[in-house]
Amino acid sequence: MTNKVVAIDGPSASGKSTVAKRVAAGLEFLYVDSGSLYRGITWKVLKEGVSIMDADKVAVMLKTVDIFFFVAAGAVRFKIDGVELKNEIRTVEVNENVSKIAAMPAVRSQVVSWLRDMHRFGNLVMEGRDIGTAVFPGTEYKFYLDASEEERARRRFQEIHDGVEKVTFSEVNESLKRRDTIDKGRKLDPLRVAPGAVIIDTTSMNIDQVVAFILERLKPLLRK
Ligand code: CDP
Repeated sequence: MTNKVVAIDGPSASGKSTVAKRVAAGLEFLYVDSGSLYRGITWKVLKEGVSIMDADKVAVMLKTVDIFFFVAAGAVRFKIDGVELKNEIRTVEVNENVSKIAAMPAVRSQVVSWLRDMHRFGNLVMEGRDIGTAVFPGTEYKFYLDASEEERARRRFQEIHDGVEKVTFSEVNESLKRRDTIDKGRKLDPLRVAPGAVIIDTTSMNIDQVVAFILERLKPLLRK
């Protein structure tokens, strides 16, 4: 492996996305949001009216899905059916179904293979649940971000508070807990701290502090 991969894993709303984007910019690496692929597949399954309980039909759909990867604005991005998905993959409906879809073996093996293939685009900072354990277990740069359940719910609530869909704090909290339970409990590549990962409890840290902490540990990767 010539290109480098920085793996940043952790549960929902642990601060991964903002931190990973900033770390990627600091290193001049490409940012990859692996969760957006599971969300994109979920959006497509819902759009096609495929039952989310029917793993066989989901597997068939995956084989023919029209997906295209490209690099833009410092990130590896994708289009499904020729469209780059934005708000449509952040809806309550996608949130409620994504972890069930992401637990299906056919979905995981397909997404993991797409993610590994992104390596050809360049050096990567990839955030997700299983990047250090399953996607790039061989990388020496692994971080696991966590925060208390209450703090994570508070962050997510703040993030979506002004969004189009109105949700209460307790709905956000319950939805995060449901996803955590599925993500940590699934058979295949559950959310776990990868061996050798640096664990960061971000509960009382701000974004700047977390980014600085990570970049400090990645000094050998910084451009001179
Ligand atoms: O936005 P949030 O951090 O809550 O989640 P996300 O990173 O967008 O991921 C959405 C869902 O995709 C997670 O709850 C997991 O079920 C799944 N996922 C996964 O299984 N493996 C990954 N590497 C990334 C996401």
